[in-house]
Amino acid sequence: MARRIIAVTMFIAALVVLAFAAQTATVQAAPPRDDGVKGDPKHGAYLFLLAEGCGCHSEGGKGFLAGGEVFDLGPAGKVYPPNITSDPETGIGNWTEEDIVKVLQTGHTPHGEQLFPVMPYATFSGMTNQDAHDIAAFIKTAPPVKNTVPERQLNVPVPQVPLQQPAASAPTSGVARGEYLLHRVTLCSDCHTPVDAQGSPDFSRYLGGQEGLGPNITPDVATGIGSWSQEQIYLLLKTGVRPDGTKVGGLMGQVVDCCFKDLTETDGFAIASYLKTIPAVNSAAAAAPPQTLPTTGMTGNQTLLAALVTLAMVLLASGAFVWRSARRTK
Ligand code: HEC
Repeated sequence: MARRIIAVTMFIAALVVLAFAAQTATVQAAPPRDDGVKGDPKHGAYLFLLAEGCGCHSEGGKGFLAGGEVFDLGPAGKVYPPNITSDPETGIGNWTEEDIVKVLQTGHTPHGEQLFPVMPYATFSGMTNQDAHDIAAFIKTAPPVKNTVPERQLNVPVPQVPLQQPAASAPTSGVARGEYLLHRVTLCSDCHTPVDAQGSPDFSRYLGGQEGLGPNITPDVATGIGSWSQEQIYLLLKTGVRPDGTKVGGLMGQVVDCCFKDLTETDGFAIASYLKTIPAVNSAAAAAPPQTLPTTGMTGNQTLLAALVTLAMVLLASGAFVWRSARRTK
């Protein structure tokens, strides 16, 4: 059951990422060339945790990064988080650091495959080249595990998602650092931004809480975390303990345990200070009417593409939902 919830969550998460990417996208980035950057696995180990430790790739019970559980996409098919350990036969031991960076930034594998965007490359595309190389260098250190993951079965073409341009440099502290981490590295928004009845994210209520998943973490005093100090937000991420002494559980508890407990104070305060700058959302208020995609900064073509991608994903999501309900009633 927990796995199913996580799978569904991650599917919804993918939708959130897609729509977010549609909002901030520039254009489908050209595949990166060898940029001569060399990854630092130690820094990569840290960033890897902020990106939630690529958790989906370890859930299959075969070991660290040795492959995950099936993602059932309903009528669209099934995908499997692959073995990304350094095993040359069943993992990615033969890939170069550059190959891994390319997957993080574009979803293209060295075998010429385009990954389904359940893999959050729309978010990761926005990292600096250096940060992407650091994560890749760390992944290359994962001990080899022999485990063959089934081939994906897709009945639809892989949706093309708009990607971000890699940031030229990563801010090192403060609000800018927090914004960089939230939009380009971490997956907080996937659990904390509300979705409408069709499953599309409502960015007019960014981080305003997702029904049955992540609570409101905007600066609203009544329904969000507006009364929390930056230090209290940092401590929640680091220890899982709220200002009233209670402990978070569920998915957030898992994310703290696996990953955020190693957050540096600088990054914790950076995230907290950025969370203080986003618009307060009162999650008790009636849901806003469905939003159209903002057009600012996009050309007509990009807006159209974004709208089409969102529409396609919404159809896919409702199809999956109908399909699941149909199966359940059998
Ligand atoms: C996998 C889903 C998921 C991700 C990713 C996630 N959260 Fe959460 N978060 C939750 C859930 C679920 C809770 C509620 C847990 C509970 O009530 O026990 C929560 C609780 C919180 C709370 C406490 C709010 C309150 O009112 O008690 C804060 C603050 C928070 N998350 C911030 C973040 C930040 C910042 C990030 C990214 C750095 C993040 N979360 C990533 C699911 C997630």
